[in-house]
Amino acid sequence: MERQVKFIEVGPRDGFQSVKGNMIPTQLKLEIMERLLNAGVSHMEFTSFVSPKAIPQLADSVEVTQALLAQWPEADVFALVPNLRGAQRAYALGLRKVCYVVSLSASHNKANINRTHQQSLAAYREIRESCPELEIVLDLATAFGCPFEGKYREPGAAVDFLRDYIEAGVTTCCLCDTIGIADPAQVRGLLSALKAAYPALALEVHFHDTRGLGVLNTCAALEAGVSGVQAALGGLGGCPFAPGASGNTASEDLIYLLDQLGVETGVDFAQLLAAAKYQRERVPGSYSGHHININAPQCVLG
Ligand code: COA
Ligand code: ZN
Repeated sequence: MERQVKFIEVGPRDGFQSVKGNMIPTQLKLEIMERLLNAGVSHMEFTSFVSPKAIPQLADSVEVTQALLAQWPEADVFALVPNLRGAQRAYALGLRKVCYVVSLSASHNKANINRTHQQSLAAYREIRESCPELEIVLDLATAFGCPFEGKYREPGAAVDFLRDYIEAGVTTCCLCDTIGIADPAQVRGLLSALKAAYPALALEVHFHDTRGLGVLNTCAALEAGVSGVQAALGGLGGCPFAPGASGNTASEDLIYLLDQLGVETGVDFAQLLAAAKYQRERVPGSYSGHHININAPQCVLG
């Protein structure tokens, strides 16, 4: 495993999108992001430019982007976009990095963004033409399995699917386990097939924790040489268009393990834990992160 890894916090997008009920106040979102950035997070997916009817919690993406770019111009922050319109809106605000989401599963692509694979590829090409200075990470949703089509036990489908995107200019792909169906053997198999087929492609991973395997799968991916790992504060998260999807791997659990293994992320565990507590107390949702600070004096077992 590398001694240093790029940790990418996605709670402000994947976590907040899953929160039902009242809109989380924009100011509160910004306060949580400020705590994350102050804790040393330097890569963050912070909102989506999608239809507010599809994802009502992220309807304030313009305000959030403006505030974040003004206050943290140096941070490596990006937003999810599903189409040309989303990319153009983000670009017009000065954002220069997005992730473009497409699902390996045709049925999930339809359920999530109402597009065929062909339409998604065409839109990717349009975005590259229309927004020349935009860095675009490809988010490959359902890369390990799909709520409608089941688990992809062989890596061939993903390898074949990515070919057109790589020819169209993709240099970084994040493999997203949208429903938390992956296991470490599958992770190793997919990563080694992709590395063999596309040696220049940078790979990142994003696991949901449906079976408690998020941290384990992330470790398997790190051993297989991914360049970035994603997780969400508190383990909040989930795609509303993937039945059965649960929360993400919790950032605090992953950072704890990486700290113990001596893998540097730049993130301060105690501050991250405090940010998770701050969020939990203010944003309702289904949290899976382990929030006990075992280093705090009152928790030392004796
Ligand atoms: N940002 C904001 N609004 C958008 C938009 C964007 N990027 N793209 C489309 N819209 C609006 C349209 O203006 C239209 O609004 P109206 O109903 O008020 O007229 C509406 O969304 C539908 O537009 P259309 O182009 O017909 O899209 P669609 O119905 O085929 O839906 C998406 C496609 C991609 C917009 C929608 O499925 C979506 O936003 N999905 C997001 C899924 C997501 O974020 N999932 C979780 C993360 S993986
Ligand atoms: Zn996710």
